[in-house]
Amino acid sequence: MEVVIKKRKTEASILGAKIIAKQIKLKYDSVLGFATGSSPLLLYNELVRMHREEKLSFNKITTFNLDEYVGLDPNHKSSYHSEMNTNLFSRINISQNSINLPNGCAPNIPLFCQEYENSIKTAGGIDIQLLGIGKDGHLAFNEPGSSLASRTRIKTLTKVTIEANRKYFSDVEQMPTHVLTMGIGTIMEAKQTILLAFGENKADAVKKMIEGPVSTSCPASILQFHEHAIILLDEGAASKLARKEHYIEVYSNKPKWQQWE
Ligand code: GLP
Repeated sequence: MEVVIKKRKTEASILGAKIIAKQIKLKYDSVLGFATGSSPLLLYNELVRMHREEKLSFNKITTFNLDEYVGLDPNHKSSYHSEMNTNLFSRINISQNSINLPNGCAPNIPLFCQEYENSIKTAGGIDIQLLGIGKDGHLAFNEPGSSLASRTRIKTLTKVTIEANRKYFSDVEQMPTHVLTMGIGTIMEAKQTILLAFGENKADAVKKMIEGPVSTSCPASILQFHEHAIILLDEGAASKLARKEHYIEVYSNKPKWQQWE
């Protein structure tokens, strides 16, 4: 795990965008895993800026999103399809055919989930998977108690997550309690992961993820087993880490050839 602590979320987000841009420049047809929620928004803005001002091109990349609500029309304004379109896809030169999100309206959900897994494999696997973390330590929509070997499937949201996400629905009655999500096993197969966490309200989950035992009680703690997991934090999210000073020292003393900035 590489833990990077920046003063502000803007700096951490810009760094995340730099890592993704570097990957695209290295491999123009990269496979990128994207996430929703508030955490990646500044990173997406920076990718859009790089596209507009630095001609970063997305026209050969393929994307797979982590999750989607079950039963919500993709055109619904609170669907993750809409969120991704608004925040990123409509603002860059990506081909519509290269965008993949779980279909929460699939008539046969187990079949769809199997096909989603197959599509990721056929695309050659995910080069970089972007992630956020829930206040309860969830990864994508893998809530506490999820199998650490799980694959794409249907899940039921916890009360904590329903409470956190209801702000995205004008009518809370419309908020589904079921979701489709990549499994933890699926996420762990990405060649690299970048997790973003900002604000003090994530500090407990971040501490458990980085310094707690690996456990289904904090699904994100599985990243301790990932070969190439980068955790980008602001000071609020890092505030409860026991080894905070050490992570800062390690990052500021990285050999030049390992640096991104
Ligand atoms: C949501 C999403 C996750 C996201 C997390 C944190 O429910 N399913 O993929 O990482 O919760 O969201 P936020 O970034 O808004 O705090």
